[in-house]
Amino acid sequence: MKNKILVTAALPYANGYIHLGHIAGAYLPADLFVRYKRLRDEDIIFICGSDEHGTAIEISALKEKLTPKDIIDRYHNANKAAFEELGISFDIFSRTSNEIHHKTAQDFFMNLYEKGLLYTKSEKQLYSEKDKKFLADRFVEGTCPICGFEEARGDQCESCGSNLSPLELKNPKSKISGDTPIVKESTHFYFPLEKSQKFLEEWIQGKTDWKSNVKNYCEGWFKTGLKDRAITRDLDWGIKLPLEGYEGKVIYVWFEAPIGYISATKELFIGKGEPEKWKDYWQEKDTRLIHFIGKDNIIFHAIVFPAMLEAHGEYVLPENVPANEFLNFEGGKLSKSKGHGVLVKDAVREFNPDVIRYTLGSNLPENKDSELNNDDFKIKNNNELAAILGNFVNRTIVFAKNKFDNLVPERGDADAGVLEEVERLAGVVSENYDEYRFRDAISSTMDIARFANKYFNDSEPWKIIKSDKEKCGSIINNCIQICGSLAIAIAPVMPFTSQKILNVLKQESSILKWENIGKAFVKDKTELGDNEILFPQIEDKPEEKAEAEEVKEAEDNLIDIDYFKKIELRTAVILECEPVPKSKKLLKIIIKVGEKKKQIVAGIAEHYKPEELIGKTIVVVNNLKKSKLMGVESHGMLLAAKKDGKLKLVTPEGEIEDGGDVS
Ligand code: MF3
Ligand code: ZN
Repeated sequence: MKNKILVTAALPYANGYIHLGHIAGAYLPADLFVRYKRLRDEDIIFICGSDEHGTAIEISALKEKLTPKDIIDRYHNANKAAFEELGISFDIFSRTSNEIHHKTAQDFFMNLYEKGLLYTKSEKQLYSEKDKKFLADRFVEGTCPICGFEEARGDQCESCGSNLSPLELKNPKSKISGDTPIVKESTHFYFPLEKSQKFLEEWIQGKTDWKSNVKNYCEGWFKTGLKDRAITRDLDWGIKLPLEGYEGKVIYVWFEAPIGYISATKELFIGKGEPEKWKDYWQEKDTRLIHFIGKDNIIFHAIVFPAMLEAHGEYVLPENVPANEFLNFEGGKLSKSKGHGVLVKDAVREFNPDVIRYTLGSNLPENKDSELNNDDFKIKNNNELAAILGNFVNRTIVFAKNKFDNLVPERGDADAGVLEEVERLAGVVSENYDEYRFRDAISSTMDIARFANKYFNDSEPWKIIKSDKEKCGSIINNCIQICGSLAIAIAPVMPFTSQKILNVLKQESSILKWENIGKAFVKDKTELGDNEILFPQIEDKPEEKAEAEEVKEAEDNLIDIDYFKKIELRTAVILECEPVPKSKKLLKIIIKVGEKKKQIVAGIAEHYKPEELIGKTIVVVNNLKKSKLMGVESHGMLLAAKKDGKLKLVTPEGEIEDGGDVS
């Protein structure tokens, strides 16, 4: 009997829309693997759902004046639909707000608690008497002790970039009510991860087939040494601690979210009327548990969750954690990019989902970050999908239509070896899938279509038909059988196109079994269905495009007054100034802007000597995000005028104090 395979894909946060980077990181490789294994008749299930707790969701709700439930409903539904449109074939897409998950996570927690594995520790924390609760980091706002910015967050000052703890803030206020919190001790539960290090290290050492990016990452953590982790938080939104005396506390989102994989499996089988069957997947020791994730999730899936599962004792541990690196889009990080077409819900409006799958699949960041440009969809569609795969299927069907009355011609015995070659090529594809090399799996799939086109060209049916119609029919029959094999071989990466080919060949989906590749399963005399161009050319519309760009450029160059008002210009006086080591251009300058002192770095060393600058009053952009130039932090920018290579500081006319508004 075959082992069961349990595939999970990282539960996406329900506070944002899924984008192509997420797809390339985890969901597409997982779906490729699962679809391939299903074709091989494996006993496999594919689990996912929304990750619906955590402060980020509460903050979004607070910002939009909605409830957390409103937020998670919006994104859960949108993401579920987007996955479906892209053909990501989860057996279940559940959500961590479901009751079954709350119960499962609480039971998991209690199991560790009752075994005495958890311990508690008290820490000073801000508490609001008005809100009647401890305030999580991001629920506190106050004055930054470093730069004096008055709206610094409890975890970070957005003005000077310093990492903060809420207790360091001056004049702290609750973001919920504006109340001034007091300092109070709060008790939290800890998971003893440090003790698991030895076990984990040995366990991962034995995983010779893990990707090196994942192993290296884990080894990095082991080197620094694993630390115990707090697994509770003082929050309302989340899974309540099932213990008396701990009201107002929830289980930390990263502790409960992976347990969501278990809860979702339970839900799946309850839906099938087999409520105990989830155990076959989670508790049979031969199950192959595989977590597909992006690299930012490695610590939780390769280290923390396995340690939790091990501590619990009744569950299988992952066999593999094939994490991907990041996909960059148009040269920038996708997570930050807001460009059109980056969100799955937009991309599926613009392109055939199979074109998206194929293009992303060919560029998966398997071993290093990869790069995608908007043009790649067009290039892949026109130069590969249309030119190779679409072309072969089309010319075969058109030939049969025109020369053989739209019927599959008799099989005959021409070129007996071609289907064997197709089978051999599919073997290469298999190996790639089995070893998590999805980019190679896709390019080797395309090799089958390349071979098919070559066969069509080399056998010249358009010539043969003049002398030997029967032989020509036999060649076209081969081509039709290859179309059938292609429908199967491409099914993992292009499920929608696979179905279209089956429709033309009048085949049932039950034919979709990997073992049928290379078999002549399309019967003689089958009447072919309607031919459809599988991959219509994607054209640039030159005029439209140029016009759109012009309009956009014109708009881009104009700003409205509100936009300008966001730029905080102030007068500042220069207190200190010195060159940045090893830099020809940069000076490090300490300025005073009213009450505040800050450091900026400016590229004016070729125009001013440090000592010339001290005491000058200048104009600075005061609310610029922190940046680093040659390793030196800069918290603002000075204004200077430049012409013909000459550069002069912008200074106010006459006397004015530093800290003045410039408008
Ligand atoms: N929500 C997390 C993210 O998007 C992933 C959670 S995966 C799970 O980064 F293990 F917690 F389920
Ligand atoms: Zn600050």
